[in-house]
Amino acid sequence: MAVESSSSTWSNRFEQGLNPFIERFNASIGFDIHLLQEDLDGSVAHARMLGSCGVISETEAARIIEGLQQIRQEAAAGQFNPGLADEDVHFAVERRLIELLGPLGKKLHTGRSRNDQVGTDVRLWLRRRIDDIDAALVRLEKALLGQAERHNEVLIPGYTHLQRAQPVCLAHHLLAYVQMAERDRARLADVRKRVNLCPLGAAALAGTPVPIDRRQTASELGFEGIYANSLDAVSDRDFAVEFMAAASLVLAHLSRLSEEVIFWASEEFAFVGLTDRCATGSSLMPQKKNPDVPELVRGKSGRVFGHLMGLLTMIKGLPLAYNKDFQEDKEALFDGVRTVLDCLEAMAILFEEGLEFRPQRLEAAVASDFSNATDVADYLVGKGVPFREAYQLVGGLVKTCLVENVLLRELPLERWQQVHPAFEADIFEAITPRQVVAARRSEGGTGFDQVAAQLRQMRAHLGT
Ligand code: ARG
Repeated sequence: MAVESSSSTWSNRFEQGLNPFIERFNASIGFDIHLLQEDLDGSVAHARMLGSCGVISETEAARIIEGLQQIRQEAAAGQFNPGLADEDVHFAVERRLIELLGPLGKKLHTGRSRNDQVGTDVRLWLRRRIDDIDAALVRLEKALLGQAERHNEVLIPGYTHLQRAQPVCLAHHLLAYVQMAERDRARLADVRKRVNLCPLGAAALAGTPVPIDRRQTASELGFEGIYANSLDAVSDRDFAVEFMAAASLVLAHLSRLSEEVIFWASEEFAFVGLTDRCATGSSLMPQKKNPDVPELVRGKSGRVFGHLMGLLTMIKGLPLAYNKDFQEDKEALFDGVRTVLDCLEAMAILFEEGLEFRPQRLEAAVASDFSNATDVADYLVGKGVPFREAYQLVGGLVKTCLVENVLLRELPLERWQQVHPAFEADIFEAITPRQVVAARRSEGGTGFDQVAAQLRQMRAHLGT
């Protein structure tokens, strides 16, 4: 780029160049170069529309479009490297176009402003990234389903308050995260509708006297519609906040899953082993195998939550319409999107090849506690005993077991019958972990049939 100082960017009203620090402070080219493809897409559509509306001739439009495509090729070849003096990606492209086409290049910016231009670019960029995130969520869901199917007979203690509560199918536990991911997808699809509205043609803030056709550019760019109000069009960043809120929930879900993997991998639980593919060692302690992947995902959630707060704070005091504060949306979006995509991919890899469940440990865990106590009460309920009475009787039984340091299944039948005559020999079968799980046939419960149906439904839904 032949430009020395951005003072030449501005109209003749400016006499002096920018203070060099302020030039750097003001510039967004260091990061908004990310929007290059979208800026070119938007400019191609704008030029074509100017041509078909007769604002410029069709030949001029065609030559401008060729020039823009040449810039795309230069960028692909690593030959388009704008510098600070270009201020931002929009100026960089326009300047190169003028270098290539001479005075004709100066016609591109007719009937638009950087204000509607940047809004268009960011929305095009985010729309694509939402589609990438959706694909990454599906990959994670499939990795979870793969583990669920490989272990469809395996049980895991279910917890409330992180106290053992009732055994559940491991597949049921993993399917809960698949459901969260499905909500994430639905939320992002909903946000996408509002990302997919075109502000182009709002110009600086008030529209333009140039006879443009906003609907033509919007439809060429694949937008579902256009902003109804030009002031709102250039000053709306709600979509960025909404996206970051949806992204924050994705990270919150990943962070919860990470937390579980981290304690499952601890020696205290030992429900999973980490494979060498996704675990790291300690520089000092030779015995260590650390769950860095889920720890990083858990840790990175904070960045995305932070961006959400940053964006909300950025917009809260802004008068209509465009304000330079909006330039701050980009680094938040770029980092937020990269973090979500990276964390989704890392978690997918972790579940694809980074961890192995330990069925024996899990089996031993569900067999050696009182997580079948509710089922003893339910057994009595089945024999006509009112639930609250059954609940009290079983509480007494558990207390006896704790004093004698035995499990429920180790009490002989006569001890049960002393507590209530309705107990018969079938109580022992009724309180095995498998029976306890199988009995929970209510819709959405952990019963084996329910879980198998959920697995089938999810596979059909994901088309695999
Ligand atoms: N780099 C600017 C941004 O990211 C582009 C729009 C600048 N518009 C303006 N009126 N200064 O928001």
